[in-house]
Amino acid sequence: MSITTTQDRDAQRSLARLLPRLEQEFAAQTDAPVWDAFRRRLDEHFPRLFHLLRELYGDQYDFFYHLERTLALAAQSWLDRPADLKVQDAQREANPTWFQSEQMLGGVCYVDLFAGDLDKLRTKIPYFQELGLTYLHLMPLFRAPEGDNDGGYAVSDYREVDPRLGTMDDLRTLAQELRGAGISLVLDFICNHTSDEHCWALAARAGDPEYADYYFLFPDRTMPDAYERTLREIFPDKHPGAFTYRAEIGQWVWTTFNVFQWDLNYRNPLTFREMAGEMLYLANLGTEVLRFDALAFMWKELGTVCESLPKVHTLVQAFNALLRIAAPSLLFKSEAIVHPDEVARYISAGECQLSYNPLLMALLWNSLATREVRLLRQSMDHRFQIADDCAWVNYVRCHDDIGWTFDDGDAAALGINGYDHRRFLNAFYTGRFAGSFARGLPFQENPRTGDARISGMLASLAGLEAALHGNDGAEIELAVRRICLLHAIILSIGGIPLFYLNDEIGLLNDYSYVDDPAKAGDSRWVHRPATDWARMERRHDSATLEGRIYGRLRHLIQVRKATRAFAGNRMQVINVGSDHIFGYVRTGPEGQRAVVLANFSERPQSLHPNEVRLYGLGYQFRDLVEDRALALGEQTLTLEPYQVMWLTAE
Ligand code: GLC
Ligand code: GLC
Repeated sequence: MSITTTQDRDAQRSLARLLPRLEQEFAAQTDAPVWDAFRRRLDEHFPRLFHLLRELYGDQYDFFYHLERTLALAAQSWLDRPADLKVQDAQREANPTWFQSEQMLGGVCYVDLFAGDLDKLRTKIPYFQELGLTYLHLMPLFRAPEGDNDGGYAVSDYREVDPRLGTMDDLRTLAQELRGAGISLVLDFICNHTSDEHCWALAARAGDPEYADYYFLFPDRTMPDAYERTLREIFPDKHPGAFTYRAEIGQWVWTTFNVFQWDLNYRNPLTFREMAGEMLYLANLGTEVLRFDALAFMWKELGTVCESLPKVHTLVQAFNALLRIAAPSLLFKSEAIVHPDEVARYISAGECQLSYNPLLMALLWNSLATREVRLLRQSMDHRFQIADDCAWVNYVRCHDDIGWTFDDGDAAALGINGYDHRRFLNAFYTGRFAGSFARGLPFQENPRTGDARISGMLASLAGLEAALHGNDGAEIELAVRRICLLHAIILSIGGIPLFYLNDEIGLLNDYSYVDDPAKAGDSRWVHRPATDWARMERRHDSATLEGRIYGRLRHLIQVRKATRAFAGNRMQVINVGSDHIFGYVRTGPEGQRAVVLANFSERPQSLHPNEVRLYGLGYQFRDLVEDRALALGEQTLTLEPYQVMWLTAE
């Protein structure tokens, strides 16, 4: 966004008008240095905030009133911000790319499934430290409707913890203890919708027109039909289209996801202000990263797909600008599981500093299925690079399904038909394809379009379930290697590696979800198992399967953390002359180099050492994974089945 001089002048004028009132309301309550810090950031970021909000709400008659109340919210939030978080703000303002360190390692889990409740989760901090986590995403833990609540993504109150998990005070204590242990707490900012039991929805259901305007309600099918002409169905299994009829109010409600998740109407400036309040509340709780859930859907316009519209970016940037003023160390992570061109548009210091990397995730699975890296190599070559002050969050599995979000043009350039190839991948990962090692389930299979996505635990998708079932030692070893291979990529490619906790001991699919009526209709529960602590205890015993997987992953983590070349996000894809080997060069902040080679096939692959020498490694190099020196003359370099090498110059 660029701000012209006139716009800047408008912003200065508005600030001059609003400041006296703010000072009157807040400056007197606080010490001069605290207020001065706020003033300084207001001077710096207000012009941007003003410009963004004017773009969204400038046509409202009460625009200035809302602007004033938004600044008042920011001021109050800053005054309330705990001192230790203010210290952290200052540290991170001085070191804004702290999250690019090679020390970073993320983990994600459900509080109840991993530990029981918040209090018990605290007792797992030593485990998180042992694993090396510096970032912990706790899946939604707010009050939500009983029964199906989309895994907590239908929030009834952003300021209340699900009573089964504990209280807000427990969460605050946990955040503090995590911070003390060097672990940043990551929570969701579920901004696209609330549950139909949120007090705003309850008021709308009771007929209050002010609250009806927080959502999209229509008296008949005219508008829903008009919108649906251009919308994609997100959960076609659950309900066709994007609207749900509520007989109690005789209205059609916009529900992109489940019938009980009501989309919020951000055309209403009050909705923005209320949600900004919830965001700042989460910030002051000690959250260090907010995962911006389903953000692509936040703005709707008739005649469009209503995904990733320009105003979505304006909205996210406005939330970002507000944070820079009131809680500057907080980061946004974008959860846009959409076309890669669109994913990239959310990533910038002024919008989301972090983003899931769904393309890498999907293409890693693609390469495992095809034993070929062409699409991965070609796509990463032109799609991995993002701004220097941002970072990918690279993951292999998460709580959601796998969608095949690669670009059809990228595929076509290699002679691959995107539609057919997705069908193949779905057949492969559901195990329907003859010879497939994977045991996944289809998710939201759409008979009309032939679309489907994939559910399944990493270990089951990587072949461990089938191999154990067949009691086949060689296949078990191959599956373990696949698990390590995928992790070795996310640990080295650049950005924050994110582990889906329980994958580190290779937990398999949990089919028991079908017995729970609240879960039976959603196959994603197959990959949301409860942590089996008896199995977890076996992680140090290399004679057990858990120990084999954990030991190798733990080793990779330690090596990553000791390798400066893995910091930052400078990565160059290389073609080493084999379509089975994914290769790239990493360059660290001080110029340190590492070459990564990963064999995606179950056969050994050889290459000429010149292929890697070219990248500045010379004749003597060391594989950091096996801690082995390789002095190569002319003899070939061989990668064993699924082997990954992290090479540096000796
Ligand atoms: C996000 C979550 C997903 C949820 C959806 C609706 O995509 O990851 O689990 O179903 O948002 O909130
Ligand atoms: C959620 C859903 C995923 C869908 C995505 C769309 O992440 O789980 O299946 O593709 O939203 O953004």
